[in-house]
Amino acid sequence: MSHPPTSPHLEFEGTTPYEDYVKAEVLTNLQEMLSDDPGEMVFLVTTQVMELWFTVIVHEWETAARALREDDLSVALAALKRSTYELEALNASWEPLAHMTPAQFNAFRAALGEASGFQSATYRRLEFLLGEKTPAMLVPYRGAPAVHARLEKALHEPSLYDEVLRWLARRGHAIPEAVRDRDVSVRYAGEQAVEDVWSRVYAGDQNSDECRLGEALTEVAELVWRWRNDHLVATRRAMGAKIGSGGSAGVAWLEKRATKHVFPELWTARSQV
Ligand code: HEM
Repeated sequence: MSHPPTSPHLEFEGTTPYEDYVKAEVLTNLQEMLSDDPGEMVFLVTTQVMELWFTVIVHEWETAARALREDDLSVALAALKRSTYELEALNASWEPLAHMTPAQFNAFRAALGEASGFQSATYRRLEFLLGEKTPAMLVPYRGAPAVHARLEKALHEPSLYDEVLRWLARRGHAIPEAVRDRDVSVRYAGEQAVEDVWSRVYAGDQNSDECRLGEALTEVAELVWRWRNDHLVATRRAMGAKIGSGGSAGVAWLEKRATKHVFPELWTARSQV
């Protein structure tokens, strides 16, 4: 016997359970435009959307780092895998900004003043998790103690990659003590001995735990690199070689940043296999 489909509930005492959970009223009231230009809305919302994705990705990489610390590879791999889907979605959100002409950008650019994505604290946390630690990046947040404290904590914690190297060491791979016990608040520049470990991993069983982790990290590295390149190209299209609102040389500065490889040994090791 078939039952007629029941309809959704319409009556609620107060706000809807959806609103209580999603806070859509809060989210959709955070779009405070600084100009009258109709093109500014999508610029602001895309930036906010990217901030949300940064937040999710930081969460995944912190989950992965913790899981590796606890030798729980499957939880780490699941979090890294989710982060690659999220990075794909993050990168796809460039589309509405990727075609702006300089005149279209100029229509609201001055209203942004000195505001620049360079000042994104969550992006900086994301870079810290990759091992790209720079204490000077804390300076912009001196006037925002809670943000500063969170970033400072992240600066002194082992990065995701530090946890990977320690995990490899516990699995018996020849990770030098100086790498295992390094000062995690400074940028990790890469080590020949670590490259050798990855070369051996990649020359061996392609289904080993080490190789699967290496590939998950390579996927992450490539997608971060793509974000940087898409940002670079969108910037070049929207403002050519002008100075950035954050005070940098603009495209020339971003170009230099985009040439850096995430998890460098995972790329250099490939030449040895
Ligand atoms: C077409 C639009 C955009 C242009 C023209 C642009 C331009 C720039 C420029 C010139 C810089 C260098 C720093 C400076 O002097 O300001 C920069 C940095 C940055 N921007 Fe954008 N940006 C755009 C969109 C976005 C969006 C949507 C986000 C998302 C949050 C973003 C995030 C960042 C980040 C995180 C940095 C720092 C990169 C690093 O430290 O390596 N940008 N941007």
